Amino acid sequence: MRTTGSVTEVRELIAEARRAGSRVGVVPTMGALHRGHTSLIEAAVAGCDLVVVTLFVNGPQFNDPDDFLRYPRRLQDDLDTCRGKGVDVVFAPDEQTIYPPGGQTTVDVGHLGTLFEGQHRPGHFQGVATVVVKMLNITTPDTAFFGQKDFQQQLVIRQLCQDLHLPIDIVTCPTIRDDDGLALSSRNVLLAPEQRVIATSLSRVLRHAREQWQNGFNDLPALRQQLREQLESTPGLELDYATIVDANTLEETTADSDPLVALVAASVGNIRLIDNLLLNATSETA
Ligand code: PAJ
Repeated sequence: MRTTGSVTEVRELIAEARRAGSRVGVVPTMGALHRGHTSLIEAAVAGCDLVVVTLFVNGPQFNDPDDFLRYPRRLQDDLDTCRGKGVDVVFAPDEQTIYPPGGQTTVDVGHLGTLFEGQHRPGHFQGVATVVVKMLNITTPDTAFFGQKDFQQQLVIRQLCQDLHLPIDIVTCPTIRDDDGLALSSRNVLLAPEQRVIATSLSRVLRHAREQWQNGFNDLPALRQQLREQLESTPGLELDYATIVDANTLEETTADSDPLVALVAASVGNIRLIDNLLLNATSETA
């Protein structure tokens, strides 16, 4: 495995593999890798010849400076994880490399980036879109792998690849959860034991909504209200949003269009959590 923070070097490594006919896959991450990330790496290793993992905690996508400071950073562990999973190249640049002084261009994703997470975290998707375009331009992959866990993010990235004519196949991998249902997240390590119990209510209410939908309770406004009320009445949890929307547009459709996704976001103490579930799917398929 090669590890580099240099744009020139990572480009050379990838160009060399490409000359040899390799299919290149990239897994963009902010590190503190867990089984959610490694599931993306496994999908990349299975489908590509050269797998690149990017590790970069991207300041501009954090609307809360404390969240950025608290974000776990564990480079050595992450490198061990990548090595163990058969990653070929780790690109772990520093801030100056990704944001050289004097840089001015950002990527604005438009309407899709203003909904839900965009509304509650101003500037978040501009930060995500800008760094993802940089990483995709640096690594020029055939395929890039993202998690369903960040449902809106993968839609935003699909949209920007389409709008900016980036010839990259975007693969969305299923959400990986702990046994108690909590979707794995790098921020979960910050939860105290009693907060963790509260956090599991997110996946519980999502599963309940899906169960009802699949049992034929198709009154979407009532289902939305119930989802919201269940979370609003959970002690210790502060709800940002809970809804059911069209999985392609994120609009609150009234028709029982297909596919539908239930989206939730809430804080437990000062830890913000998001989760989602596709109502039409029987498993965690994207
Ligand atoms: P990060 O939170 O590190 O996540 C990296 C990738 O792992 C994302 O595509 C995310 O959706 C996926 N992921 C996280 N938890 C997951 C889980 N439990 N199951 C499946 N996939 C999971 O998302 C980002 O970083 C950043 O916004 C990034 C795209 C790297 C841009 O900075």
